[in-house]
Amino acid sequence: MNHPNGRRRNTQVILVKRAKGIPQAEHFALVQTPMPSCPPGGLLICNVALSVDAGMRGWVSEEVGYASVPVGAVMRSYAVGEVLESDCEDYRPGDMLCGHFNWQHYCAALPQAVMWKVDTAFAQPSLWLSAFGISGLAAWLGLTDYVRYVRDETIVISTAAGGVGSIAGQLARYRGLRPVGLVGRDSKVQLCLTQFGYEQAINYRRADFESLLQVSVPDGIDIFFDNTGGEIADAVFRRLNPGARIIQCGTAAIVDWSSMPSGPRREREILVKELSWSGFIVLNHMERAKAALPELRQMMVEGHLKIREHILEGIEQAPGAIAMLYAGDKDGRLSIRL
Ligand SMILES: NC(=O)c1ccc[n+]([C@@H]2O[C@H](COP(=O)([O-])OP(=O)(O)OC[C@H]3O[C@@H](n4cnc5c(N)ncnc54)[C@H](OP(=O)(O)O)[C@@H]3O)[C@@H](O)[C@H]2O)c1
Repeated sequence: MNHPNGRRRNTQVILVKRAKGIPQAEHFALVQTPMPSCPPGGLLICNVALSVDAGMRGWVSEEVGYASVPVGAVMRSYAVGEVLESDCEDYRPGDMLCGHFNWQHYCAALPQAVMWKVDTAFAQPSLWLSAFGISGLAAWLGLTDYVRYVRDETIVISTAAGGVGSIAGQLARYRGLRPVGLVGRDSKVQLCLTQFGYEQAINYRRADFESLLQVSVPDGIDIFFDNTGGEIADAVFRRLNPGARIIQCGTAAIVDWSSMPSGPRREREILVKELSWSGFIVLNHMERAKAALPELRQMMVEGHLKIREHILEGIEQAPGAIAMLYAGDKDGRLSIRL
């Protein structure tokens, strides 16, 4: 079948080699393939928005980790798309869905690939990849199931202006915590303070970062929502209060895990300060994570959740998009409009 926009073939982005470090455009290739047909019991989806997530680096790295993408396969991604044909009862042509539809124009999907129906009257497709997609779910799940807290505690969040971090900051503020953001540019400091609910924000690249951090958290740090690890996390650990809680959401500052990075050992601090340190992978808890949607929708309706977006145009932008994400060059949550 032809899509209304006249496409007769499918454009896909495939992985051509695994990446050591940050995946670059050269690790991917655009290929033209025949239009897929609707699989038995499944759906033919026309993607309208593709996600670009920091976690995709791990899926294509040289080390085989969770959710690894095989060389030669279409790059895995979340996407929002319209149902063109349906051979299953739950979805009808015209439904807008968010799911694992990958970096391609058309997806022949089984129902298990669908995460949920998308209400584009409430929010445009790209927001179902950010506020109501994996970024929002990761922020919500981390702050809901992986940490205990009481009002007015101080929480430090790294990659504070990013997809996950910008939502974590606003959610923390909404729940009565005092969020302090760590970012890599002065312009992002301003965004944290003016848009993302942070009480304080610090550029970790500044030479006086550690003293700024000390001034920003005069009573120490109760919770650390860590998206970076590395030296940024080392500085935060030095300010953790006894009984502090650490949520390990990401490790953006460690470019390569092929040899174990060196750094301070934490065992004694964990023991003596009675710290608790939890990690989570949102993909493993998608059913639970759906419980995030009502609160995140409510926050947006009330004006407590703002999303800044950086939308690339066209699938041709996909191969270089993960590198752009990590370079921090984007001016908002990155996605690709088709
Ligand atoms: N656990 C889960 O289930 C889950 C789910 C989603 C995401 N995550 C994690 O959450 C984190 C954020 O993901 P995202 O998709 O929202 O991406 P993002 O924060 O929008 O983009 C990544 C950011 O990482 C920062 N960065 C890059 N290289 C860095 C370095 N060497 N040191 C310190 N910071 C660096 C940059 O921000 P600055 O310019 O501010 O440095 C960049 O903008 C990632 O670590 C990701 O893996 C985890």
